[in-house]
Amino acid sequence: MEKFLINGGVVLRGSVRASGSKNAVLPILAATLLADSPMIVRNVPDLRDVKTTVQLLSEMGVKLEHDASGVIQVDSSQITEFTAPYDLVKTMRASILVLGPLLARFGQAAVSLPGGCAIGTRPVDLHIKGLRALGAEVEVEGGYIRAQAKRLKGAHIVLETVTVTGTENLLMAAVLAEGTSVIENAAREPEVSDLAHCLVAMGAQIEGIGSDTLTIQGVDSLAGCDYSVLSDRIETGTYLLAAAITGGCVKVTDTQPNLLESVLLKLEQAGAVVESGDDWVQVDMQERRPKSVSLRTAPHPAFPTDMQAQFSALNAVADGVATITETIFENRFMHMPELQRMGATIEVQGNTAVITGTPQLYGAPVMATDLRASAGLILAALAAQGETIIDRIYHMDRGYEQIEQKLTQLGANIQRIAC
Ligand code: UD1
Repeated sequence: MEKFLINGGVVLRGSVRASGSKNAVLPILAATLLADSPMIVRNVPDLRDVKTTVQLLSEMGVKLEHDASGVIQVDSSQITEFTAPYDLVKTMRASILVLGPLLARFGQAAVSLPGGCAIGTRPVDLHIKGLRALGAEVEVEGGYIRAQAKRLKGAHIVLETVTVTGTENLLMAAVLAEGTSVIENAAREPEVSDLAHCLVAMGAQIEGIGSDTLTIQGVDSLAGCDYSVLSDRIETGTYLLAAAITGGCVKVTDTQPNLLESVLLKLEQAGAVVESGDDWVQVDMQERRPKSVSLRTAPHPAFPTDMQAQFSALNAVADGVATITETIFENRFMHMPELQRMGATIEVQGNTAVITGTPQLYGAPVMATDLRASAGLILAALAAQGETIIDRIYHMDRGYEQIEQKLTQLGANIQRIAC
């Protein structure tokens, strides 16, 4: 199994390019199932989750050609299978995103229930409820969600909880439904808007993009389009934190700083000098120790849960005491005991962690437990004195393109080792 070997204590400096967004490309690839004609998707990051999605779609009969420059050509005109099998869904929960489009275009879908995952139970009840509201017959049997409908019918849906993939699934179902649908309390994450813009480019009629109320006028068919995926705001934020935690200066290019406001605000509170333009952002920590920053995760535009582990690492070395409250997922503190192994002082009570910063973390063998926890551990290792070995880095490969190359470019001492 591969591991990262990191020798910490180097001040990171330089510039890196943001890749395409993992959370935007996955629903957009699922949306290609809705197109009657070929489609081109650009700025596709080279990630394990993208490979899993490509495999999932290929097994359904979709023809995909993925070139090395991040362009995927997709032809969904000949679908022969309408199932997302357990073997793939268990490695990537986002496989649930094929449910809405398959049902909308072909009137049938079977998707394995994702089951539990490292960061909590993560139910899909709201996806199912919403599809039933759109007129689908949905049964859960033998570990599968089996759905069918002659043609979906527009409906008024109020989501009880803000759900990102839930909103995306219902949006992809509603675009081909008969009549008007309204999705209230919709997720406002930029990746939902990116999907909506892609659907509009395919011929969908959607109003309220970017707001919590999406109004969709169903159309009879959608065509392929040429679409470039949004940049990854979480990857961008992670590299900015690499500057903040090592006292360095990092510029991220080809990104959209306007989608990261809550994160940039926290970096300023931590003492960083933040500068940005339309498509770049830079954090300069001027070799100072960061100040502790308390935060509470919540749906966009508030502070993203996907940046919580990275700020936990920052607070572990910061000056002061910070309180971190996780309101989205009930079990997203699995990086805390690993940070403690590196010398961090953390007390966890329920969904709140109180972190008292220590001037120096020390390298240790640690275990990555999920994608963003891995990012937090890498940041801690970059700041720590000595050698850290991070196990189970396959989590990292799900969502960060060429992380060791990008960190090396910034001066980090990181190697991928097989053992
Ligand atoms: C997406 C992101 C993930 C991010 C998360 C929250 C993708 C592929 N993944 O995950 O990176 O951390 O949003 O921003 O885009 N819930 C229900 N019932 C449902 C659906 C969700 O109760 O049917 C709850 C969840 O348990 C959780 C909350 O809603 O407490 C938000 O989850 P959700 O937004 O659905 O997360 P994902 O879409 O899985």
